[in-house]
Amino acid sequence: MKFQFNMSLLGLMASMAARRGLAFVPSLTTRNALTKSNHHIKPLTRHFLSTLAPPTEQSEAEEIIQLPTNEDDEELLKIRHSSAHVMAMAVQQVFPEAQVTIGPWIDNGFYYDFYFPDTVDKETGEKVPSRKLTEQDLKAVKKEMDKIISKDYPIRREEVSREEARRRINEIGEPFKLEILDSIKTEPITIYHIGEEWWDLCAGPHVESTSSIPKKAISLDSVAGAYWRGDEKREMLQRIYATAWKDPQQLKQYKKMLEEAKKRDHRMLGKKLDLFSVQEEAGGGLVFWHPKGSKIRRMIEDFWKNAHEDAGYDIVYSPHIANINLWKTSGHFDFYRSDMFDQMDVENEQYQIKPMNCPFHCLMFKDELRSYRDLPFRWAELGTVYRYERSGTLHGLMRVRGFTQDDAHIFCLPEQLEDEIVGVLDLTERILSRFGFDKYDIMLSTKPEKAVGSDDIWEAATKALEGALKKKGWEYGVDEGGGAFYGPKIDLKIRDAIGRQWQCSTVQCDFNLPDRFGLEYVSAEGTREQPIMVHRAIFGSMERFFGILIENCSGDFPLWLAPTQFKLLPVTDAVHDYCNEVAAKAKKMGIRVEVDRGSERLAKQIRNAEQQRVPIMAVVGVKEMETNNLAVRSRKLGDLGSFNVDDLLSELSRCSAAAEEMTMQGDKSAE
Ligand SMILES: *[C@@H]1O[C@H](CO)[C@@H](O)[C@H](O)[C@H]1NC(C)=O
Ligand SMILES: [Zn+2]
Ligand SMILES: [Zn+2]
Repeated sequence: MKFQFNMSLLGLMASMAARRGLAFVPSLTTRNALTKSNHHIKPLTRHFLSTLAPPTEQSEAEEIIQLPTNEDDEELLKIRHSSAHVMAMAVQQVFPEAQVTIGPWIDNGFYYDFYFPDTVDKETGEKVPSRKLTEQDLKAVKKEMDKIISKDYPIRREEVSREEARRRINEIGEPFKLEILDSIKTEPITIYHIGEEWWDLCAGPHVESTSSIPKKAISLDSVAGAYWRGDEKREMLQRIYATAWKDPQQLKQYKKMLEEAKKRDHRMLGKKLDLFSVQEEAGGGLVFWHPKGSKIRRMIEDFWKNAHEDAGYDIVYSPHIANINLWKTSGHFDFYRSDMFDQMDVENEQYQIKPMNCPFHCLMFKDELRSYRDLPFRWAELGTVYRYERSGTLHGLMRVRGFTQDDAHIFCLPEQLEDEIVGVLDLTERILSRFGFDKYDIMLSTKPEKAVGSDDIWEAATKALEGALKKKGWEYGVDEGGGAFYGPKIDLKIRDAIGRQWQCSTVQCDFNLPDRFGLEYVSAEGTREQPIMVHRAIFGSMERFFGILIENCSGDFPLWLAPTQFKLLPVTDAVHDYCNEVAAKAKKMGIRVEVDRGSERLAKQIRNAEQQRVPIMAVVGVKEMETNNLAVRSRKLGDLGSFNVDDLLSELSRCSAAAEEMTMQGDKSAE
C-alpha cells in the first residue's frame, strides 16, 4: 500500500481534532489537496449510490388507518355474527343438501362449517360424491346472500324449551344441530329466525334485519377443510372463511393491509435475510435461529435482562423437564394435558418436558421458609417451553411447538400488589417502546363464574390492577368475567406499523398455584400467610415477538438491532487490507461489521448490502483510504456524506448503544 504522506497526516490531524471537539481547519495548500481528492471520489460514489440504490421506501402503511375490532365495536360484531347466518342460509338455498354446523365470528370476519353428504342423482340413480366447494360456488353463495340482504328480512329472537328445539331440529333434519343442542347447558334455548324462511340456534347478538348488513363490505375468501369438533375421527366439513366490515372503505383498507402484510411476511423475510428456519427433518414448529437471527435475539435478550435488573428483578434459570408429580401438583396434568407432550420414562418415573415455567418458580419459593421482610420476589426467566400444538395450526414463528417465554413471577404481600403491577406496567412500557411500540390496547379481565379464591381476594386484586392502570393513566376496557379461573388479569396488545394488533404482554394474578404448592411466608405477627403470585410476560415469546418485529419493520431493523450494522464496500483490491483494519477496529468497539469480499463490481456490492438491509454502508476507494475518510450511506436516509473513520465508528457505536438512528452529517471540516 502506498500512502501519500501529507494525505494520511491530514486525515490523522482531522480525526484528532474531531475527537477533541475542535474544528480542524487545514492550511490553504492542504485544503486544496483534500478538496481535490474528495472531488474525485464523491461524485463517483454518489453516482453509484443514486442510480443503483433503491429509492427510500415510502411505507404505504402510513396511510393505513386503524380498523375497528370485535372487542371495541359491538355493531361490527353483530354484522359479522348475522352475516354468518345469512351465509349459512344462502348456502342451503344454493345447495339444499348442505348441512349446517357452527359459524362463529373471528378477527376480521367470520366462518361457517358445512357438511356436504354424498347425494344420489335423481335421474340415473347413481351416487354422486359430496360437493367440493369451488370459487365459482362461493360467487353463487355471495349472490344469494346479497339477495337475502336486499329482501330486508327481520332477524327475530325466539326462546324455546329444549324439547321444542329438539322437535324442530328433527323436523328439518340437521344432525349436527342436535349435537350442538346437547352441548348447550343453559335454558331456555334461543333461536334466531331470518324472516320466515330459515332459523339457526344461536345466543346472539345480531342486527335487527338483514338490510343492516353492508353487502359491499362482505367478501367470501376461501374454503378449507375442518373436522367436526376438531376431531379427526369425525366428519370432514367445509369451512367458508369470509371477511366482513362496516363499510366498503374498511374492506378496502383491510385488503390493502393484507397485501402489505404479504410483502413483509416473516417466513419469506426470514429466509431471504437468513434469520431463521423451520426444518421438515426436525419436525414442525421447532425454530432454528440462524447466526443473523441469533444476533438480533441476543441484542433483545441483553436489553431485556438489563432492563429487568434495573427494575429490581433477579434473573433465574430452571430445568426443561421435571417429574410428572410436579405437574400433578400444579394441576397442569389434569387441566392442560392436551397441550403437553407425552411423558418420558426415567428410571420408572414419569418426566414431563415443561409447557410452563411457573411450577419451577413455585418450588424455588418453597425452598426456604420466607419472611414477609423478603417479599416481594421478582424472578425473571427466559424460559423455553414446549407445547403440543396440532400440526395444522403451526405458522412460522407465530405458532410453534417450542418457544422461549420472557417469563417472570412476582411473589408479594397483598398490600404490595398495586405497586408491583405499576412496576410491571412501567417495565412493559419501557421495553416495548424501545422497539417503537408505544400504542397499546388494554383489557382488564375480571372474575369468571368458575373461580378459585375468596371474593375478598378477587376484589382486592382486581382493585389493585385497576389502581395500577389508573396510576399509569392508561385507558382500558373491561372484560367482565373474562379472567382466568385463578385470578384477574391485564392483557395488552401492541399495534404494528400496518395497523395490526398483537397480543403480547399479560399480567395475571394467581390465587391457585400458591395454594396448590402450599406457598407461605411468616407475617409480621408470626402467622403463616399465602403470598400473591403474579405471572407476567412482556413479549410473550421470543419467537413470536421476533416474527412481529420482522413484519413490523419489513426486515429493515433499526441500527441497534441490525445483525450487520455496518458494511464496508471495497472499490478495488488495493483497499481490502485497509477495510479489514477498519472492520477490526469497529468490531472492537462493539459494532457488527462486515467487509464485502470485493469480488463483484461496486454496483453489485451496493445492491447486495441493500438487499440484506444493512443500515449503514461505506464505499472505500484508494482516496478514502488515503484521507482516512469514508463515503457513508444510510439505507433509510440516503447519502450521509463523507465521514472521518473514527468519527463514524464512535457515532455508530453511540447510536447503537442508545438505540438511535444515525443522522449525523459528515465531518464537513475535513472537506
Ligand atoms: C414498528 O412500528 C412502529 C409503528 O409504525 C414504529 O414506530 C416502530 O419504529 C417499528 N419498530 C421497529 C423495530 O421497526
Ligand atoms: Zn348468531
Ligand atoms: Zn407463570
